[in-house]
Amino acid sequence: MRILAIETSCDDTGAAVVLNGRKILSNIVSSQNSIHQKYGGVVPELASRRHIEMIVPIVTEALKGANLALKEIDGIAVTQGPGLVGSLLIGLSFAKSIAFATGKPFVGVNHVEGHISAIFLEKNPPRFPFIGLVVSGGHTSLFRVDGFGKYKRIGQTRDDAAGEAFDKVAKLLGLGYPGGPIIDELSKKGNPKSIRFPRPSLSKNSLDFSFSGLKTAVVNYVKSHPEPRGGYSEELVRDIVSSFQEAVIDVLVKKTIRAALDQKLKRIVLSGGVAANHHLRKRMKDTAHEEKLSVYIPSPVFCTDNAAMIGVVGYEYLKRGFRSPLSLNAFSNLPL
Ligand code: KG4
Ligand code: ZN
Repeated sequence: MRILAIETSCDDTGAAVVLNGRKILSNIVSSQNSIHQKYGGVVPELASRRHIEMIVPIVTEALKGANLALKEIDGIAVTQGPGLVGSLLIGLSFAKSIAFATGKPFVGVNHVEGHISAIFLEKNPPRFPFIGLVVSGGHTSLFRVDGFGKYKRIGQTRDDAAGEAFDKVAKLLGLGYPGGPIIDELSKKGNPKSIRFPRPSLSKNSLDFSFSGLKTAVVNYVKSHPEPRGGYSEELVRDIVSSFQEAVIDVLVKKTIRAALDQKLKRIVLSGGVAANHHLRKRMKDTAHEEKLSVYIPSPVFCTDNAAMIGVVGYEYLKRGFRSPLSLNAFSNLPL
């Protein structure tokens, strides 16, 4: 089954062709970073407008990359939510139009299920059940995953998502957007132990997260250490961001390992843009190893938003005979 998948939930226009939900025939992502950079975050109206401009060229490029004509596609999968509704509507309307014009089967996909399922694009994917940590710009959630479509949420953020915290701290320090990859890179030479930021863990047994207090601690640190003329030294910036990153990682690793032990599961899957973070990948693997748990993390390109992961989920549903109606709507909030 060759699935054409489309993803426009936020600020990346993505299209992919995936064979049998596992093999990528093409995977094209057009980033809007240069558009949103100067605002330090995604401007929804600009994102929708750019999706409109890019959707036809990107889908065309994905088909061309797979060396297939539209009529050779067996089904269409598209992100239905959660995300920015204006952005979602571009991909969804476009996918529905193709489905209507060609009569191909069509299915709407939950973006978070896409992130969790990105691991099936890799060579040795895990068996079910596993603990899934989704860490992105919009989500920080822990799931018990018993199969496609079988999710039990066991933890979530009460305020900011982890990626959002990275982006806000980068913005505060004037480092650019998106903040995650910039902080990741700067931290390689920083001292993560130089500043002791709080590790918000809520109550003792809670698997929920909270990052807004940590973000405020960074704001307070910056306020109490006014920038000298000419700005902070590179060394201090590196130390601030690597200390912040260390605090985020400590909490993510601790709660994910606890979730696996609580649920008596041996496998952990990381996903979402923040799972591209080098330090998080290493720390999660090392700590899990000590607890005799296995960690599975998609390649960085499948952690950040992409359409191939939507193709994985779309295949699973279309294969089971599930079809979405052409009246399908987009939702900014779409629980898994
Ligand atoms: O999954 P994603 O591409 O989009 C959403 O669904 O939100 O995640 C984007 C988020 C942004 O907040 C970005 O700063 C963060 O993922 N991110 C990273 C890294 N790469 C992307 N955070 C930390 N380290 C990275 N290397
Ligand atoms: Zn995402």
